[in-house]
Amino acid sequence: MTVNKQSLLAPAEVRAIVAAAGRAPSVHNTQPWAIAWDGVAFLITADTSRGLTITDRDGRELVISCGAALYSLRLALRKCGLDSHVVLMPTDDPRQLARVVPWRGLPASAAERRMFAAIARRHTHRGQFDDRPVNAELAVWLQQAAGEEGAALLYLTHPGQRAHVLHLAGAAERELAQDPRVRDEITAWTPAPSERRQDGVPSWAYARPDSLVSADELPARDFDLGRDIAQMQEPSRTSGTLAVLATEGDNAEDWLQAGQALQRLLVTAAQHSVFAAIHSQAIELPHTRSELRRELCTAATPQLLLRFGYAAVPTVPSVTPRRTTDDVLTI
Ligand SMILES: Cc1cc2nc3c(=O)[nH]c(=O)nc-3n(C[C@H](O)[C@H](O)[C@H](O)COP(=O)(O)O)c2cc1C
Repeated sequence: MTVNKQSLLAPAEVRAIVAAAGRAPSVHNTQPWAIAWDGVAFLITADTSRGLTITDRDGRELVISCGAALYSLRLALRKCGLDSHVVLMPTDDPRQLARVVPWRGLPASAAERRMFAAIARRHTHRGQFDDRPVNAELAVWLQQAAGEEGAALLYLTHPGQRAHVLHLAGAAERELAQDPRVRDEITAWTPAPSERRQDGVPSWAYARPDSLVSADELPARDFDLGRDIAQMQEPSRTSGTLAVLATEGDNAEDWLQAGQALQRLLVTAAQHSVFAAIHSQAIELPHTRSELRRELCTAATPQLLLRFGYAAVPTVPSVTPRRTTDDVLTI
C-alpha cells in the first residue's frame, strides 16, 4: 500500500474527521476516546480516566463507545474519498484500540454521503415514539448494517420472550439504582443545568423516572436520582421495536465490533427518521446478562439492548455537548 503523506489529508480535514468521530454515542456521554494523527494513520486510544469504574468495571461499554467513534471516523474518511485499513488492538497496550490507515479510494457515493450526513441527525431518543412499528425493510437493513460490522441484531418479537426481557431490564434497573456507588457515578456524569459541561448527559435529554411505567415498557435509566433536574417533559409511553445487539465473543475486539455496528445501524436508522434508545442496565449485571443470553437461545453474547421507533425531529435541542476537537486530537 502506498501512502502519500503530503497530500492525503490537510489539517482542516483531519480536524473535521475527528469532530465527526466525536459525535458518536458513548455511555453517559463520557466520550472516552483520544485520537492521534501522525500523518499516516489515526490511532484511537481509550481515555480510561473517563471510564465508569463501578458500572463498567471491565471497560466493555467504554470500548463499545470508542468502536462507535471508529465507525464514524471511517465514514468521515469515505466522505473524503478515502478508504481505510483498520487494525483492531494494534499493540500489546490494551488502551490502544484501533489504528486506521487511510488511502485514496473512489469518490464517496451518494449513499455514503447520506450516511455521513446522518451522523449529525443521530441522537439517543428517550422520548415518545410513534405507534407504528419500524418498517420491515428497514428492520432488515439494520440487521445487515450490524452484520457488516461483525455483530448481530436480534429482534425480540415473540411476546413471551419480550415480556421476560422487559422483566429482566426492570430488575436490573432497580438493582443498579439502589447501589450508592452506581448513583454516585451517574451523578458525576449528569451535570445540573447551570453547569457548562462538554460531556455528561444534559438534563434536557432525560425525564424523571416514570412511576407509571407499564410491563410493556423498557425502564429508562434514572439519571435524575431525585434531584428534580430532569427537563424532558414526557417519558416514552411506547416501547417501540426491541432488539439486542450481540457479538460472537466478549473481548475487546468484539466490543469494538459492537460499537461500529451500533453506530452503523444508528446512522442507517436516522436517515429514515428512526431513532433508538439505548438500554444497557440488563447487560451491566452478570446475572441478568446470563439470563438474557439464555432467553435469546443463542451462543452470541448480548452487548446492548435497543429500542427503535419513529420520532419527529425534536423542536427542543437534541444535540448533546461534545469535547472540543483540540481536547480529543493530538497531531
Ligand atoms: C455503550 C453505551 C451504553 C449506553 N447506555 C445507555 C443507557 O443505559 N441509558 C441511556 O439512556 N442511554 C444510554 N446510552 C446513550 C448515551 O447516554 C448517549 O449516547 C450520550 O448521552 C450522548 O448522547 P447522544 O447519543 O444523543 O449523542 C449508551 C450509549 C452507549 C454507547
